[in-house]
Amino acid sequence: MEDKIKILNDKLTQAYLGGGQQRIDKQHEKKKLTARERVDYLMDEGSFEEIGALVTHRTKDFGMENQKFYGDGVITGYGTVDGRLVYVFAQDFTVFGGSLSETHAEKICKIMDLAVKVGAPLIGLNDSGGARIQEGVRSLGGYADIFYRNVQASGVIPQISAIMGPCAGGAVYSPAMTDFTIMVQDTSYMFVTGPNVVKTVTNEEVSSEELGGASTHSVKSGVAHKTASNDIECLESVKQLLSYMPQSNTEKALDIPFELQDEIRDVLSNIVPDNANKPYDMHDVIAGIIDQDSFYEIHKDYAENIIVGFARLGGKSIGIVANQPMFLAGVLDVNSSKKGARFVRFCDAFNIPLLVLEDVPGFLPGTDQEWNGIIVHGAKLLYAFSEATVPRVTVITRKAYGGAYDVMNSKHIGADMNFAWPSAEIAVMGAKGAAEIIFKRDIQAAEDKEAKWKEKEAEYADLFANPYSAAERGFIDEVILPKDTRRKLIKAFAMLEDKDVNRPKRKHGNIPL
Ligand code: HXC
Repeated sequence: MEDKIKILNDKLTQAYLGGGQQRIDKQHEKKKLTARERVDYLMDEGSFEEIGALVTHRTKDFGMENQKFYGDGVITGYGTVDGRLVYVFAQDFTVFGGSLSETHAEKICKIMDLAVKVGAPLIGLNDSGGARIQEGVRSLGGYADIFYRNVQASGVIPQISAIMGPCAGGAVYSPAMTDFTIMVQDTSYMFVTGPNVVKTVTNEEVSSEELGGASTHSVKSGVAHKTASNDIECLESVKQLLSYMPQSNTEKALDIPFELQDEIRDVLSNIVPDNANKPYDMHDVIAGIIDQDSFYEIHKDYAENIIVGFARLGGKSIGIVANQPMFLAGVLDVNSSKKGARFVRFCDAFNIPLLVLEDVPGFLPGTDQEWNGIIVHGAKLLYAFSEATVPRVTVITRKAYGGAYDVMNSKHIGADMNFAWPSAEIAVMGAKGAAEIIFKRDIQAAEDKEAKWKEKEAEYADLFANPYSAAERGFIDEVILPKDTRRKLIKAFAMLEDKDVNRPKRKHGNIPL
């Protein structure tokens, strides 16, 4: 028996060495952890159970039968993060550059199937040169097997992708179909085709970093939801993100024990300036409402005119969607609509209640927006809110103008409780523009046109630049003092805890993609 145990131990020792010490050293030189170190850091100590450590590839072409590494470039298994079961795969760049072979894909598919059957999150730590070139179509098939499973798991279990090295070709499409993508600055990049192919096809000269680095994808494309400055920060971010989520769509996120205190927050009374054209930072409103330091912002540097992220309110996990008056006056445009819509759909799929903080002057006008499809993209946000059945509460802090009033979780599209601060202005448009249009003749006929305009502006403002017209009709449930907002929201979400909505039977809706 001892001999046999030795054989097993030797094999496992080899497996733990991945592509060998030299390649491990190279990985460390690049300031990257190895796949095994990443898994160790992510999971609770001693909780990780590996599956398929002794798998090897089956390729015989190009002399591959002489180059076999146990594990075949990916570590897969399960364990716990903060005591909760998760499934994980970590691609091992020291073995064929983490490239995806048929067997590598089979290992990932195996844990994806388990994650869905059991109902627990899937975390992918990606570091891969894409399809294993020596395997040809078998590798492409392996990718498709994973993509298919990503889609079947979507909305069933949370799926998080950490991009911790190169992700080229097929390696980018699985992360793209998961719920959240976190990229490590300087060491990770994502692109369908690399700089060499770009040069050949379009004659553009571009570096890997510029083409698909973390800042490109967090600022320009929106492919990355979050960036981290190194591997450790990235793994910490994965853990934190997980803490806001339930295990699956049949559960709710765990509450953190919380004693009600500090419910009246005077700080909220002094954020919105008296002058309606002056910006303020909606982050201050968020911080004034939520449990201390509990905001986890998603897409922080992308479409900054809308803020989305998770927070805790009275210990409960919520999703926040908020207009940001500091950027483009908080207007809705193509990118902010897409950003908001995707976040709303995630929260709705995983039973996370939604809080909307509204200060929006409308949709952004112009050819750029129209030609880029603001109609269809704006409709995404409208559709996503209308479809959502989780508890939904809105607070209008200032402007709620035009179609954006409807879109931003109005009562008409199914919000449960809508509050407004006394500073709210709920109207088709701002008073100045409205007066110019509807009192055009009066203004033109007046001797002092400017004075007439001002008079009519004041008339319109009196009628609509306040929350009362909407409150009289019940479109607003209550006009509240800013300092009471936290208390009101805690009570409203508690009241909505058991909300249950049944939609008519259908295969699926047709969200304007
Ligand atoms: C097999 C690969 C590989 C691959 C890298 N390696 N990519 N082996 N298939 N796709 C191997 C290398 O031979 C090398 O082996 C080791 O991994 C490390 O690679 P290096 O090039 O030395 O590392 P580095 O300089 O850091 O560059 C990393 C890299 C580069 C940028 C990822 O290797 C690269 O460009 N690889 C090819 C990327 C690519 O075009 N993939 C196919 C995409 S097509 P040794 O033995 O020296 O350690 C695709 C289609 C799917 O994915 C479509 C589905 C929709």
